[in-house]
Amino acid sequence: MWFFRAPTIIFGEEALSYLASLPIRKAVIVTDRHLRETETPQKVRQALPEGSQSLVVGDIDDEPNLEQMTHHLDAIRTFEPDWFIGVGGGSSIDTAKILFFLYERPDLTVYDATPLVNLGLRKKSRLIAIPTTSGTGSECSWAAVLTETTAKRKHELASPEIIPDYAVLDPDMVISLPAEQTKNTAVDAITHAIEGYVSNWRNPFSDAFSEKGLELILGSLPGVLAEPTNRKLRANVHIGASMAGLSFSNSQIGLAHALGHALGARFKLPHGKTVGIFLPLVVEFNSPVCGDRYARLNALFPEAYRAESLAGSVRNLFRAMGQASTVSEAGVGRAEYFAGLEELVSSASESTGLATNPRDAGTTELRELLTRAYGGHG
Ligand SMILES: [Fe+2]
Repeated sequence: MWFFRAPTIIFGEEALSYLASLPIRKAVIVTDRHLRETETPQKVRQALPEGSQSLVVGDIDDEPNLEQMTHHLDAIRTFEPDWFIGVGGGSSIDTAKILFFLYERPDLTVYDATPLVNLGLRKKSRLIAIPTTSGTGSECSWAAVLTETTAKRKHELASPEIIPDYAVLDPDMVISLPAEQTKNTAVDAITHAIEGYVSNWRNPFSDAFSEKGLELILGSLPGVLAEPTNRKLRANVHIGASMAGLSFSNSQIGLAHALGHALGARFKLPHGKTVGIFLPLVVEFNSPVCGDRYARLNALFPEAYRAESLAGSVRNLFRAMGQASTVSEAGVGRAEYFAGLEELVSSASESTGLATNPRDAGTTELRELLTRAYGGHG
């Protein structure tokens, strides 16, 4: 027996206007420091049903720790919301999930949210995710990541009950996403599609979402980078990224994420940048056990980027986008990197991505991949 889980997805032009039809009385809108200064939270407030009230939690950091996420919890409990709305990238949506969980179950901590425990959420409120980037897939997933304050590591909560009730994919929400974030989040989405497709937990549903998601992203991303305000192309990448999110949320990620999380947590690099560095290396590493599946994905690449192997195609595309292809290019100093190599190995080896990656990787393989990822003469 297996499951495929997904939120109700509202997509396309004017998708945001759907909020007016929901029975929202009091909404907590969770967003980040950058978006707070833009008109985005205001747009969401204006889309709420007439007469509804809202409380904006708008100081979420890029890599929030538990304290940054939850210091508004008293105010939220006093407000007594019936909906939580995460508006932003992964950190805002993840924070909305965590606040929703802790509001519903004040008797539990974030460490109690595991997939096998019945949490009994939705006694008081429900959850909406409105992504303003096209990549993390958080709007579709049952995971939420927080940064541990003491260790340079991340903690992941996972429960099917923190999958949002609704994911709203409105191209207007990503139309002004800066080029750098557009690229980093698209690389993340491409990695989700590819890792979900070869995961040990892959299944016919996740396969379909990986293939179509990757096709949509690859078909429209170069156009978005050339013409960022093209709504149709933005919508394709936005939908494709969510499809890739649905794939990996239902099949899990792999080694590129295990390594990327370790690198990103230690050196504070954007998630998409780190997984993008490892993806071609991991595809090469996994190829002996899933080359046929990679070949199917490789056929989806536009001719301009397609090489003989998937790893080559990914490299061609990322290079054309100007993405860092090595840790060195991402700006991490050689001495600093190699001084912490064993910690990176240990951090990566604890990732769930290791269990679902199609080829086993022990500490020797992880060390080798991390060494090669630095670039030059490691
Ligand atoms: Fe990711």
